[in-house]
Amino acid sequence: MTDSPDLENISLQIQQARAKFEGQLDSVGTDSVALESLRVLALGKTGYINELAKQLGKMNAEDRSKFGSLINALKQDATWRIAERKQSIEGIRIKQRLANERIDVTAPVRASALETGRIHPLSQVWDEVVAIFADMGFAVEQGPDIETDHYNFGALNFPEGHPAREMHDTFYFEPDASGARKLLRTHTSPVQVRTMEAGEPPFRFICPGRTYRCDSDQTHTPQFHQIEGLVVDETTHLGHLKWTLEEFLRAFFEVEGVELRMRPSFFPFTEPSMEVDVRCARLGNEIRIGEGDDWLEILGCGMVHPNVLRSSGIDPEKYQGFAFGMGIDRLAMLKYGIPDLRAFFESDLRWLKHYGFAALDVPTLAGGLSS
Ligand code: PHE
Repeated sequence: MTDSPDLENISLQIQQARAKFEGQLDSVGTDSVALESLRVLALGKTGYINELAKQLGKMNAEDRSKFGSLINALKQDATWRIAERKQSIEGIRIKQRLANERIDVTAPVRASALETGRIHPLSQVWDEVVAIFADMGFAVEQGPDIETDHYNFGALNFPEGHPAREMHDTFYFEPDASGARKLLRTHTSPVQVRTMEAGEPPFRFICPGRTYRCDSDQTHTPQFHQIEGLVVDETTHLGHLKWTLEEFLRAFFEVEGVELRMRPSFFPFTEPSMEVDVRCARLGNEIRIGEGDDWLEILGCGMVHPNVLRSSGIDPEKYQGFAFGMGIDRLAMLKYGIPDLRAFFESDLRWLKHYGFAALDVPTLAGGLSS
């Protein structure tokens, strides 16, 4: 029996393993990571306690049961000791948290971002205008900010070299290989042409968007916003235009009645062309719409010029319509009493807090535009 195991030696190994485990457990202290490493080292599949059990296979039944139960006892003790230590580490951790973390239930609740964040007055007015026209059955169309001379001027009946082009203070890009220069659209009117080209009459849409002119003072910024409107059908006439604008302004300024005054004007793309003033009262810095004896210019409009219909592929013998364009920035200044346009673009948080709107108050006609 040369390969029978040395029983004395195994018994010693079991004792040593137990002593080793106790020593290691002592040095673990309250370190939970070290405790887990010890668990793997001693009780893992190839851990030193399991390694001892491998010798059982070579023993006779009697010895196997004797040493087997010794090794098992060691295994159970070690398992239990580890569980116990784990629990006491957790207990210490909870005690520490209880001592360090305190919740003051009397402290005021901190407002969420949704409550403190503000909608910019321009976005607010944009949404208000869209809500009003959507209610009147207008679709919302969009076009590119970077335009060609054709869409911004040519198709809108601005003749080459006409002084009306210069009035727009256009930002031009460098000429391309063919010598053509793209530009930043100076108004939202190009969207009239683009939308008519892409569809079939009748048309009834608005286009809110960014526009650009090389201009900067208290009431002008190089980038500003316009809202274009276009209605084209077989019998659309000036009366429809006047009614539409009156309804819009009444809803927008949230007053019972507004009085409009139409003055003859000139735009290459409308004939006749008009500028529209609203009746207002000026009380110091404040402007009240719908009362008083003063007039305030608010938008440009007119009947769509036959040349514009023609260049958009619409037969001017059969169709006619009206167009209008107004500055969203100006509408916002008037409605919300904001004196300087440049502040719109300065991203001053204090200004936004003062003039901004609550994020969840989405403007609707039914629920109220600005409240
Ligand atoms: N596009 C014109 C402007 O920017 C406004 C306008 C639009 C006038 C539509 C008439 C009709 O000045």
